[in-house]
Amino acid sequence: MSTPDAALSGTFSIGGDMTVNRLGFGAMRITGDGIWGAPKDPAEARATLKRLLDLGIDFIDTAEAYGPATSEELLAEVLAPYGKIKIATKGGHSRQGPNVWTPIGRPEFLRQGVLTSLYRLKQERLDLWQLHRIDPKVPRNEQFETIAGFLKEGLIRHAGLSEVTVEEIESAQKYFPVVTVQNRYNIADRASEAVLEYCEKHAIGFIPWRPIAGGTAGGGVLETLGKKYNASPSQLSLAWMLKRSPVMLPIPGTGKVKHLEENTAAAAIKLSDEDFAALSGR
Ligand SMILES: NC(=O)c1ccc[n+]([C@@H]2O[C@H](COP(=O)([O-])OP(=O)(O)OC[C@H]3O[C@@H](n4cnc5c(N)ncnc54)[C@H](OP(=O)(O)O)[C@@H]3O)[C@@H](O)[C@H]2O)c1
Repeated sequence: MSTPDAALSGTFSIGGDMTVNRLGFGAMRITGDGIWGAPKDPAEARATLKRLLDLGIDFIDTAEAYGPATSEELLAEVLAPYGKIKIATKGGHSRQGPNVWTPIGRPEFLRQGVLTSLYRLKQERLDLWQLHRIDPKVPRNEQFETIAGFLKEGLIRHAGLSEVTVEEIESAQKYFPVVTVQNRYNIADRASEAVLEYCEKHAIGFIPWRPIAGGTAGGGVLETLGKKYNASPSQLSLAWMLKRSPVMLPIPGTGKVKHLEENTAAAAIKLSDEDFAALSGR
């Protein structure tokens, strides 16, 4: 097998000036169970990160809440200084234990998040900082104003949102340019279709999380077409997403080299329009 190449997925320019290959990497799975603490196999997690550049992956998603801190620290240990790799991190979600996610949108917590991400990632400016969740307990405009301040101060180069509606994106845009939106989306879960269409219309990067549904997608046309393209259901799902929209930036997550290689190989699959339609209707 030739080396998989994420560059075959094409490029997208985040915020109009930060160009990355569209098929990226999600760094949530280089942590322990419940996204808590160190990964079970730290050597394999490090090997996975080392392999990224060989495979043409130059866009990595992480968050202060992954570990917490573990994911950002491992990224810095293995990859800093990052060369052409761009890191998208997130803040505003706190951790009180395995599988516990609590939004905190108070300005001082968001600021702590940005400054500690800078410290952990060993960067002077974050490439892309995303509000992990809008905190319903804090006026959203206060959260948006705080993010606008980070941009003005030069702490972050670009800002994005996660798990939002079109109305929330429009509201945030009154305060700062929203360059990316990260919502759950995959071939079997298209609840965010309206948000994707909005992003496409406004050249906002759409980052689908859980893009391969944890590697569990399968059945029906995914199996049948899998034989034709010599591809697994996860690979076909990724190829479908890449064809679905030019603003789509999938970030499949893994802590295993073999899975990383398999996922990246999806960039080479070019679905026919007919097969794309068959998959869309599954
Ligand atoms: N914004 C948000 O609220 C939010 C929420 C969740 C995730 N995210 C981001 O989105 C990224 C992707 O989401 P995700 O990791 O939850 O879901 P995913 O990418 O759809 O699936 C990842 C899971 O599938 C397994 N996997 C990966 N490649 C595989 C393969 N080729 N064959 C079989 N199993 C495979 C991984 O385990 P192994 O490690 O064993 O490969 C992992 O358990 C995360 O890493 C994170 O950066 C964001």
